[in-house]
Amino acid sequence: MSDTSAVTQSTFPPSADFAASANATADLYDEAERDRLAFWDKQAKRLSWDAPFTEVLDWAEAPFAKWFVGGTLNVAYNCVDRHVEAGNGDRVAIHWEGEPVGDQRTITYAELKDEVCKAANALTDLGLVAGDRVAIYMPMVPEAIVAMLACARLGVMHSVVFAGFSATALKARINDAEAKLVITVDGQYRRGKPASLKDAVDEAVDGEDSIEHVLVVRRTGIDIPWTEGRDLWWDETVAGASTEHSPEAFDAEHPLFLLYTSGTTGKPKGIMHTTGGYLTQSSYTHFNVFDVKPETDVYWCTADIGWVTGHTYIVYGPLSNGVTQVVYEGTPASPDEHRHFQIIEKYGVTIYYTAPTLVRSFMKWGRQIPADHDLSTLRLLGSVGEPINPEAWRWYRTVFGADRTPIVDTWWQTETGSIMISPLPGVTETKPGSAMTPLPGISAKIVDDDGNQLEPGTEHGEQPSGYLVLDKPWPSMLRGIWGDPERFKETYWTRFAEQGWYFAGDGARYGKDGEIWVLGRIDDVMNISGHRISTAEVESALVGHYGVAEAAVVGATDDHTGQAICAFVILKSSAKGGDENIVDELRAEVAKEISPIAKPREIHVVPELPKTRSGKIMRRLLRDVAEGRELGDTSTLVDPSVFEAIRASK
Ligand code: WT7
Repeated sequence: MSDTSAVTQSTFPPSADFAASANATADLYDEAERDRLAFWDKQAKRLSWDAPFTEVLDWAEAPFAKWFVGGTLNVAYNCVDRHVEAGNGDRVAIHWEGEPVGDQRTITYAELKDEVCKAANALTDLGLVAGDRVAIYMPMVPEAIVAMLACARLGVMHSVVFAGFSATALKARINDAEAKLVITVDGQYRRGKPASLKDAVDEAVDGEDSIEHVLVVRRTGIDIPWTEGRDLWWDETVAGASTEHSPEAFDAEHPLFLLYTSGTTGKPKGIMHTTGGYLTQSSYTHFNVFDVKPETDVYWCTADIGWVTGHTYIVYGPLSNGVTQVVYEGTPASPDEHRHFQIIEKYGVTIYYTAPTLVRSFMKWGRQIPADHDLSTLRLLGSVGEPINPEAWRWYRTVFGADRTPIVDTWWQTETGSIMISPLPGVTETKPGSAMTPLPGISAKIVDDDGNQLEPGTEHGEQPSGYLVLDKPWPSMLRGIWGDPERFKETYWTRFAEQGWYFAGDGARYGKDGEIWVLGRIDDVMNISGHRISTAEVESALVGHYGVAEAAVVGATDDHTGQAICAFVILKSSAKGGDENIVDELRAEVAKEISPIAKPREIHVVPELPKTRSGKIMRRLLRDVAEGRELGDTSTLVDPSVFEAIRASK
């Protein structure tokens, strides 16, 4: 390697220094290759089990897997108590930084254990038992993490709902899971100002008979509506509870949590994860991909606990490894664009894991901002959520990493539970924009329509793309969709049913060294700044408006957010010509039904939608229009002339 400039350099090997002390060496691949199940057996034994498992994998009822059969363990014990028992109770678990500058808390592992035990006792007093569901609708406050761990400790499933979701979205999730309890806050800080969250909860729980209580953390002190008997303050209920609580061991396949995610229909799916396999792979990947040294590292994952990244790489991965981490409540530009860099400097962050869309924001804000701060503690950078464009990758490496730190581009999904494809930072010679290869113990392939594996490419860009499949079960795989086993089979396991492979929904191609380049979703799921939103969900919100007769939504390429939502709507004749503000109203409707993050970038009022003879909307053609391209094949359209009218509306 003679070329060392990050601008032109095409591959990035780890430095000798980094490699010399890396947790994972090349042997890990060999070991997993030799005996995959023995490899996972060994990884599982990094955890503390009450009863040992007798079999690593039972795949007899595929696609319903059982990992670590017969074993029992407690997830919260593994994430908290055992570190205290090992003498590390004084180690900081969480450096919490509130959105208002100066708001901060330091929580050691011993303190975290007390908090989790108190919350577990309080939840027990409220009548919750193993198998129940609790909805957690909270911003990034320490109590959110405590609440998740308290549920895990009791074998109660949590269903965390992103606090940016609307009351309608929360209600649908509470209803589907038949949650007994909602844990929330009075309000959350939004760019310096407190905004109520409790109002949305009241609206969501209205008429939901399963709900017995709403437990409210006092975060902002604002006035909120209160229902006596149902609503309880956290500081009155949890604070006085005992710090003594004996964790019960649960079966490896005991359900741990539900996390709702968008699929190709309008109804979100409750993705189910279980105990032993999920924790094994979360802990293993966190240790090896992020190369964490619990005694010295300060790790920061900028995700929100409302998404799977927050579950796996803020709660279960880092805490199972006994790491010190930063948890930040606010947005990156609050009070100004220096905030993340100040936090890195203040806590001496060594490992930073974020999303490409944020890297692109930093690029837009300019190099002067990071240049004002000492970022020299950083030694490893991570990326997740969407393909990272090579330009952003290089910028990240140069500006954050001083051309020194490895970058791990980690591919995975809510369904996979933890990282599947990623470099190992002390081993892999990385290429900007590629997630590289499956981790040791994981198997993935890119195949054509018939399931034939594609060939490695010759030159970047020339090789055909195919379907990304996972051809062997993995420990943290989803165990199903809540209440809908048929949908689970149909969604993930029918495309390559004959081979028994999981189809991830992504297109990908091989590079010339056999590395994987993920291209993005090829189904009707959009990826907006790393947020997963289905076209059907947005369409159903739009047609919910009285003025809309029909709607079609596509994701169009966007330089900043990866994809942007473009909607095409046909108005009812009653609404035509009437309201000038219909487009604003429709955007507000989507925010109310789903979330502000799902607001379309563009809404075009059109006279007609392009349809096939069977009545299917041709989204491919709408994407061409949205991206300003020449139209693709229009021969299957009933009326090819619709496009003149659609173009005229743009
Ligand atoms: C989809 C999963 C994984 C946690 C956050 C998103 C896309 C994710 C990458 C990456 C290319 C990526 C895929 C995937 N994706 N990471 N490193 N490179 N694409 O979880 O909401 O379940 O979305 O995000 O399209 O299918 P999710």
